[in-house]
Amino acid sequence: MRETVKVNLPGREYEVRIGPGLIGEAGVQIAPLLARKRVCVVTDANVAALHLDALRAGLAADGIGMEALILPAGEATKSWSHLSDTVGWLLDQKVERGDLVLALGGGVIGDLVGFAAAILRRGVRFVQVPTSLLAQVDSSVGGKTGINTPHGKNLVGAFHQPTLVLADTGVLATMAPRDFLAGYGEVVKYGLLGDADFFGWLEANGTALAAGDEALRVEAVRHSVQMKADIVMRDEKEHGDRALLNLGHTFCHALEAATGYSNRLLHGEGVAIGCALAFELSARMGLCAQEEPSRVRAHLKAMGMKTDLTDIEGDLPDAASLLDLMGQDKKVVAGKLRFVLARGIGQAFVTGDVPAQAVLDVLGEALVERG
Ligand code: GLY
Repeated sequence: MRETVKVNLPGREYEVRIGPGLIGEAGVQIAPLLARKRVCVVTDANVAALHLDALRAGLAADGIGMEALILPAGEATKSWSHLSDTVGWLLDQKVERGDLVLALGGGVIGDLVGFAAAILRRGVRFVQVPTSLLAQVDSSVGGKTGINTPHGKNLVGAFHQPTLVLADTGVLATMAPRDFLAGYGEVVKYGLLGDADFFGWLEANGTALAAGDEALRVEAVRHSVQMKADIVMRDEKEHGDRALLNLGHTFCHALEAATGYSNRLLHGEGVAIGCALAFELSARMGLCAQEEPSRVRAHLKAMGMKTDLTDIEGDLPDAASLLDLMGQDKKVVAGKLRFVLARGIGQAFVTGDVPAQAVLDVLGEALVERG
C-alpha cells in the first residue's frame, strides 16, 4: 500500500511518499540522497518515545548512523530560543551543505526544523517525516517553515521546500482520537475548498477511516497531498491560489487567540469550526444555498468533531472582539479582511470584499446559539 505524490517545483522537485511502514524503511528511502551515511534528526519528547527507535533501526538497516535532538513537545517549542538551540546543535554536529536534517514529528517540529534548515549555512536539505495527520496532509508539504513570536503565530519564517516527505500512515494509529480528528479537519478542508466529490467520499468513508481503515487513510492522505501539491505548484509563495488553503483559518485564528492557543481548541478543531462559519457567511451573503453550510456541519457532527462555537468549553469574547482578533491575522491586506468564501462545496474563492456587519451577524448568531 504505497502512493507517491510529486511536487514538481522547477529545480526543487520532491516526492511525498505515503503508506504504512515507511519509518521502518527510512534507510532505503533516504540513502540515495546522502553524501555520507549519517543524518541528524530533530524530534520532540512525545514522538521520540513512540517512534525514534523505529527510525534509528530503519536507518541502521541501511548502514546510516543517526544523532538526535529531542525538544519539548508543544506549540511553545516554535520559538526563537528553540530555533537557536536547534541551529546551535546542528552546527555542533557539523552538519554541512551536503547533509540531510530529518524533522520527525508534527507541525511544530516540521515548521521549526524546516526553518532551522533554511537558515543553517544559508540552506541545508531536510526531510519531513510527519507523524500527525495534520502534518501529513498539510504542514509537511509546500515548504512553509517558521516560528511564532510574541506578536503572533508563524510571523517569522521562510519558504524552504523539503527534499523528501515520508508520510508513514501506520504511525497515525498511535494518535489520540482527538488529535486525529483535529487533523481530519484539514482533510475536510480540501474537499470543501476544491473537490465536492472528495467531500462526498469523506461523507461515505470518514467514519471507517477514523476507526482505523488503513487503505482509506492512505487514500485520504494521498488525495489531500495531491490537492495541496497542485495548489503549491501553481502558487508556491501565496500570491494567489495558495490562499485557498486558508479556508476556515480567519475564523480559526480569532478563536485560537480567544482561547489562548490552549488545549481548549486545537488548530484543526478551529479549522473545522472556521470552515463551518465560512460556509455560514457565504450563505448569509447569498453566495451559496443554506443547504451547503448545513451539509458541512452535518458531516463534522457525524464524525464527532467540534462543529459550532457551542462546542468550545468556557467563555468566548463577543462578536466585535472576535472580529477585532481577526484584524490581527497576518492575511490582512491594506486594512481589509480577506476571507475564503464558497459558492458551494468544492467551490471556494478568496475575496477582500466582505462587509464587517455580515461577519458580526454570523458570529453573533453562533454565540447566541451557545445558549
Ligand atoms: N497551511 C497552508 C499552506 O501551506 O499554505
